[in-house]
Amino acid sequence: MLPYKNLIIIDKNSEVPIYKQISLQFIDLIQEGKLLPGSKLPSTRSLALDLHLHRKTIMAVYETLVSEDWIDSQPRKGYIVSPNLPVVRPRSYHKKISPFSTKGKFDFDRREIIHFTFNTDSKNNIIIDDGFPDTSLLPFTTINKEFRKSLDKVITKDNSKYVLDSAGFKNSLQTFLNQTRGIDFSFENLFITRGGQMAIYLAASLIIKPGDKVVVTDPSYFIADALFEKLGADIIRVPVDDQGMRTDILEDILKKQNIKLIYVIPHHHHPTTVTMSVERRNHLLELINIYNPAVIEDDYDYDFQFKYDPYLPLASGDHNGNIIYIGSLTKVLGTPFRLGYMIATEEFLAAVSKLRILIDLKGDLIIEQTVAAMINSGDLARHIQKTNKIYSQRCDLLCNLLNEELNDYINYSKPSGGLALWLTFKPKYELSKIIKHTHENGLSVKSNFYCTGKNAHYNSFRFGFASMEEKKIRDAVHILKNSVKKMY
Ligand SMILES: Cc1ncc(COP(=O)(O)O)c(C=O)c1O
Repeated sequence: MLPYKNLIIIDKNSEVPIYKQISLQFIDLIQEGKLLPGSKLPSTRSLALDLHLHRKTIMAVYETLVSEDWIDSQPRKGYIVSPNLPVVRPRSYHKKISPFSTKGKFDFDRREIIHFTFNTDSKNNIIIDDGFPDTSLLPFTTINKEFRKSLDKVITKDNSKYVLDSAGFKNSLQTFLNQTRGIDFSFENLFITRGGQMAIYLAASLIIKPGDKVVVTDPSYFIADALFEKLGADIIRVPVDDQGMRTDILEDILKKQNIKLIYVIPHHHHPTTVTMSVERRNHLLELINIYNPAVIEDDYDYDFQFKYDPYLPLASGDHNGNIIYIGSLTKVLGTPFRLGYMIATEEFLAAVSKLRILIDLKGDLIIEQTVAAMINSGDLARHIQKTNKIYSQRCDLLCNLLNEELNDYINYSKPSGGLALWLTFKPKYELSKIIKHTHENGLSVKSNFYCTGKNAHYNSFRFGFASMEEKKIRDAVHILKNSVKKMY
């Protein structure tokens, strides 16, 4: 039923009788398509109550409309809009132009928060993303089955049996993280988010005040950079080499300046995919214990380690509670599964939990139940094991092809895990132009962020090999090679 109370406006000072004013507004509603042919009208009694009028006035309205054939009176059913009216289309109530097609009159923060664009042109059938999993490898039957079961748990006819929070999922995730990360934490130290990005946002928002100094690597994960800028941070960049963040330079900075937050990605650093060495990890932990900055350890794709003896996260070491460890299941299960988490002190998580309520009251309980079941049955661990093997083979293949076909033009280091490889072109081969050329020849590179604009000097991109079948990897390298050869 339409909200007639709000839709019908009566002007008691008008010379037009009230029953006529209402009749005309009903005709407008019918002509504008808000009341469709055949739709039921409220009873005279209920409309009179809604509009605070006498029932006789409403009866006069309906009689007028019946006499003009706008509505029909049906025995025992009441009044309906005449079914035989010509078809009318919904239109705006008061104006012909949608109010949303204008700019609005209010002011808001128009600063450009994000300085990148993803190439979303999907005309080409070979697309290199910047490090996504291959969702075609997911155990579909299992997910289907568990999803149905979790629907029963979350949407049930018995109110007292609803699954109302993330506690069950948290329990399962805690077991999974204990088995894989070696981090010493309790249930209260774990917080669930919708993806790692939300966790970074919540943590950084609570820590950074405008003007605070925040250390990141150079280069660093561009979306975290954008967030820190938005929060007003004074960003200090520390170079990365083949052992990860240069902790010697970081130490100099910490000695001289008051650093509020360090954002670090020790495994398969984004974007360079370098894994931080043991020496640097130990040095960083020492610095954390001396200078006590907050540290966000972003371990977005820890689960993909091609070697059997991966380094444990920094958070598994001694850090006085200064580390906020952030992880994600979106890299394991694919981006449609928006699941992330944070491990931190109970006190910090209490604040995180309050902040989260402002943007999201609850997680996706159905997905959480589904993934909890996959953790409990061992399906998730098996999926990780299987995909690790395939991604490792794809990484090997890519490296072999790069050596064979593009060796003269590029530099790269083979990553020890993860979903992407950082491919740098030698300075004389301008990558932004090469990418444009490949785009015209059937190969799209999804993110050109590290070879255009202020980042042009990196002349690099992340070659996401994990989501590509072998043939596509071969074709992609071939097109890249042909483009470089044609252009130089
Ligand atoms: C380094 C890094 N951290 C965090 C994230 C966010 O992950 P999620 O998809 O779980 O939000 C990403 C996503 O690509 C990432 O690359």
